Amino acid sequence: MFLRLIRIISRSAVLLLLFWSCRKESSVPVDAPVNLTPYAITYPYYFPILELPANNPLTLEGIDLGRHLYYDTILSRDGRACANCHFQASAFTTYTSNALAHINLGWNNSFLWNGKVQGSMEDIMMFEVEQFFNTDVAKMNRSVFYRKEFKKVYNSDTITPQLLSYALSQFFRAMVSKNSLCDKFFLHTASLNASQTRGFNIFTTEKGDCFHCHSLGLFTDNKFHNIGLDSIFIGVNVGRYNVTGKESDLGHFKTPTLRNIELTAPYMHDGRYTTLEEVVDHYDSKVKHSNTLDPIMTKPSKLYGLGLTSQDKADLVAFLKTLTDTSFTNNPLLQKP
Ligand code: HEC
Ligand code: HEC
Repeated sequence: MFLRLIRIISRSAVLLLLFWSCRKESSVPVDAPVNLTPYAITYPYYFPILELPANNPLTLEGIDLGRHLYYDTILSRDGRACANCHFQASAFTTYTSNALAHINLGWNNSFLWNGKVQGSMEDIMMFEVEQFFNTDVAKMNRSVFYRKEFKKVYNSDTITPQLLSYALSQFFRAMVSKNSLCDKFFLHTASLNASQTRGFNIFTTEKGDCFHCHSLGLFTDNKFHNIGLDSIFIGVNVGRYNVTGKESDLGHFKTPTLRNIELTAPYMHDGRYTTLEEVVDHYDSKVKHSNTLDPIMTKPSKLYGLGLTSQDKADLVAFLKTLTDTSFTNNPLLQKP
């Protein structure tokens, strides 16, 4: 009994220590205002659990502040806003470049095509603010509007890069897409037509093998693969190798989600394909060999190709289009203020 008590006490002491050390690390005010409206992210059962940091709780006010920053040119030194390259109508990508879409990134922990930034949403947002935009924090602090907003949301009298990244993170976590026809099909509230169903079957069986990397739910495994776009790797095509320096990572890129894929052309890290038909053709018969090619792409059964008929290809594309979610691209919470 006594021993048990000691064990409990020492365990709580460890927890307490952990708690204190966490508190020390975070420079976000602990006496954050309480009169904010908490915001809960809901998602279907087939999504993985969403991890949320305790020191940046989601509130409607915080999301709205992040939204203002996202659409505001004040964040950059050259008149650009994040939204200049990431359009809501295109699921926050753009048809003129290989910009990555912003869809369910709250579940992600590696960012950018080569995974250069690993960590939390706050980490990638810190990268965007400090390194990509090199935001003029003094300018931010001269804005009466933002000073008032940051005081309201984070109870801080000064705006820091960290707080900018926190507010942007809140906005990004709210970018949840979960309302496509495919979701309604998963939830048994709608059905797929014959072609979409055949496409689904190709996607989720060895015939197409797509689901191994574009896992159902988020439609990404959040990992890196070489899918055989090239056999010689130069420049940007070296992919993850640029980050790790490991030869085995040559040509490896982050698996993008396929949600809203109909809206996010051009495709691949260098935007080399403009249509989904071209992408499917790649998987069907254009996979190039190299030492780092993903084993899934080289299964003997595939004889270096999927052997899809033109009907199969049309069906697969029809299925991919069931991942379009217009409630996401029209979500007022995410619109330009
Ligand atoms: C000039 C165009 C442009 C602007 C402006 C821009 N981005 Fe991007 N963004 C891109 C491109 C291109 C990529 C892919 C780059 C890569 O992976 O190397 C990208 C990737 C990202 C990613 C990674 C997504 C993922 O799945 O890993 C995030 C997050 C992001 N941008 C957020 C922002 C934020 C926040 C801002 C504003 C502070 C911003 N972007 C401004 C073009 C832009
Ligand atoms: C071995 C893992 C893997 C398999 C299997 C796989 N993919 Fe991919 N997919 C990826 C990766 C990684 C990328 C990004 C590659 C790049 O840009 O270099 C990608 C990119 C894509 C894109 C373009 C996404 C964008 O935003 O640009 C589409 C569409 C796509 N895959 C569909 C499919 C379909 C359909 C199948 C099945 C026929 C499939 N994938 C099988 C890993 C995979």
